[in-house]
Amino acid sequence: MTNTVDDAQYFAFSRFLAQRLGITLGNNKQYLVNSRLSQTMREFDITDINVFIQAAMSGQNPRLTDRALESMTTNETFWFRDEYPYQILSSTLLPNLAKQVKKLRIWSSACSYGQEPYSIAMTVHEFLRKQSGAFAEGVEIIASDISQRVLNVAKEGKYDELAISRGLPIEMQNRYFEPTTCNRLAVNNKLKSLVTFRQANLMDSFYSFGKFDLIFCRNVLIYFSNDDKAKILQKLTALLPPHGALILGAAESISGAEDVLKMEKCTRGLYYSKR
Ligand SMILES: C[S@@+](CC[C@H](N)C(=O)[O-])C[C@H]1O[C@@H](n2cnc3c(N)ncnc32)[C@H](O)[C@@H]1O
Repeated sequence: MTNTVDDAQYFAFSRFLAQRLGITLGNNKQYLVNSRLSQTMREFDITDINVFIQAAMSGQNPRLTDRALESMTTNETFWFRDEYPYQILSSTLLPNLAKQVKKLRIWSSACSYGQEPYSIAMTVHEFLRKQSGAFAEGVEIIASDISQRVLNVAKEGKYDELAISRGLPIEMQNRYFEPTTCNRLAVNNKLKSLVTFRQANLMDSFYSFGKFDLIFCRNVLIYFSNDDKAKILQKLTALLPPHGALILGAAESISGAEDVLKMEKCTRGLYYSKR
């Protein structure tokens, strides 16, 4: 049993990861590869991490390659993360969009376990409670991620006490969740029906997704190289109509895409629009 990646395999796997997912590991993250792949290789009865990496890079078993890649993603997420994007959504973006579009399309482009798209859906629903005639032709929220594992959890929409305790206000729990087995709460159908989940890699082309009035791309570009980040921002901007908005993570910027995007400051927080 070898649980320690050797240097040559580490650098080869880092390049593979950057090419396939955009994620850059840097020079000294051998420990991360060791710990994350050691768990996944057990699923395939492989005991040597260097053999496992070789198999993942060969692509001969696509499931093994996918599992190796997705085990290197960081899926940290919680409800109404950073609060300000959702405040901007209800105080500025949704009221403005309600005057301009009849059908609202939103993309949560790295949705992890679903907390982000469901938080968006709750915010939209709360807005519609006050302004029931808005978006008369419907609301569509597309939620995507590279990892099928997190998408399966998101689609199921059932969360344990720990996940629920991370940022979900009690009145939202009461309005949009119902008790289910194993002390979990399940997203109700009112919310679920607004969200469609699909697998998508931000490194690929996604023009076929169509235009979106709002794009959330939060806490994922921090893992990418400046070059890949700039390319993705350019591709996302191409999907925004003139009235559209892009919402990034609190630690993320539009560096490399200032020619196509501009910052819009709100009382609390900010978003980006197309130049
Ligand atoms: C830290 S989570 C952020 C989740 C959520 N946006 C939030 O802010 O709470 C980052 C997510 O990005 C996904 N991801 C990583 N690389 C990706 C790629 N190339 N394409 C699409 N999703 C990716 C990961 O699987 C992970 O679920």
